[in-house]
Amino acid sequence: RLDDDPSRPSYHVTPPANWLNDPNGLIHWNGRYHLFYQYNPAGPFHNTIHWGHAVSDNLVHWEDRPVALTPSPDGPDRDGCWSGCAVDNDGVPTVLYTGGRDKRQLPCIATAADDGLTAWDKDPDNPIIEELPSEPEVLRTEDWEGEFRDHCVWREDGTWYQLIGAGIEGGGGAALLYESADLRNWEYQGPILAGDRDTAGTVWECPELLDFGDRQLLHISNYEDVVYFLGTYADGEFEVDRRDKLDHGDFYAPQSMWTDDGRILTWGWLPEARDVSGQWDAGWSGAMSLPRELSLADDGGLCQRPVPELTELRGDNTSYDEVRLDDGESESLPVESRSFELRATVRLEDADAVELSVLESPDGEERTPIRYTYQSEIAVDRVASSTDPKATSDTQTMRVRPYDAPLSLRVFVDGSVVEVFANERHCLTSRVYPTREDATGISLSAEGGRATVASLDVWELDSVW
Ligand code: FRU
Repeated sequence: RLDDDPSRPSYHVTPPANWLNDPNGLIHWNGRYHLFYQYNPAGPFHNTIHWGHAVSDNLVHWEDRPVALTPSPDGPDRDGCWSGCAVDNDGVPTVLYTGGRDKRQLPCIATAADDGLTAWDKDPDNPIIEELPSEPEVLRTEDWEGEFRDHCVWREDGTWYQLIGAGIEGGGGAALLYESADLRNWEYQGPILAGDRDTAGTVWECPELLDFGDRQLLHISNYEDVVYFLGTYADGEFEVDRRDKLDHGDFYAPQSMWTDDGRILTWGWLPEARDVSGQWDAGWSGAMSLPRELSLADDGGLCQRPVPELTELRGDNTSYDEVRLDDGESESLPVESRSFELRATVRLEDADAVELSVLESPDGEERTPIRYTYQSEIAVDRVASSTDPKATSDTQTMRVRPYDAPLSLRVFVDGSVVEVFANERHCLTSRVYPTREDATGISLSAEGGRATVASLDVWELDSVW
């Protein structure tokens, strides 16, 4: 594992070196949590994708496993083994994924060759779907004969169902439904939901349907954002009653795992926010988000919280019952770290904003402020995050609930990751690349009035490897 880069996360899953994108094939199998991911073992760039593999007994500590899926020179996945999911087919762990070959995207199936899920037997009859659906017509682009890929598979009353992401000619993205008795012969049913291009993108990648009992959630990745739709799914149709982004920052193509104890855990790809030459120099690219537990609140809204298991990583603690801030006043915390968790309750009182600045150098040259304002917005300001011109410098924002209620904030800083959870509902993940060794400070300040930060804790977090 590469570990000499201070931007390298230590408690977020990363590839041992080289390139990582989407989480794939998530499965809780024989008591172990398996996390596969889009991986290029040849370098920190996206090309001839394999499936990398990491495994954990407790969702906290991870171990690298050998590459699990490799493109077959003569197979339908010759150009890459693209994203897919895992299911338990009556005791046979089975993955469905997209093979790429000659501008075609070809659904493939493989079954586990061993109980550790380290090797997979590809079906000799791959691909399992050859014809593109014609109604509606799948979008052709310069690169692809049909934008048609990624898989979400589940079983209901003995029948298998599958969603494949697509773009529609002249329309927007779509999640296309298929049905099968045996996971190999699939019958096309039509879209369960299709977006309009203006609001939800031209292609939907990595669609996933999650069942919360009375209500369902469909999320899709549209090249920019992960959009989720909450509502009801029945008989091949998704009826939407609300929508939002799953995360408002650098977070893409998430996938979920149903654990043996009935939880829905979701991981997303945290793409880099430094340019390709920066990634090349680093020798690695891409990290996974923390595992997030998804659930529905009583009011029907979506809750997202980091899995409770992560508290096991907590080391040294700095704690305050209450920090009172006057207008313009700034308080530095006596913590120096690039791998920590911060938890706090923030009350604006009569302030316009509270700023929590992380990865801050003593002179403030490099710093990443997380600003909470009375307009009920959280902004992660990357303008001064790094003096490296290869790093993105912009501001990312999200809305949270009204400012007159206290804000509950959890911030996870890890090398180049700043993962923010607000009120256990809204998430914003940013990638930042401080260059200075002393950009490890944390400070709090108020603007335009007084504010209170209560129940403030900072824990240094250990590595998961
Ligand atoms: C999403 C995605 C998927 C595809 C994979 C290729 O990031 O583009 O649609 O299967 O990545 O690596």
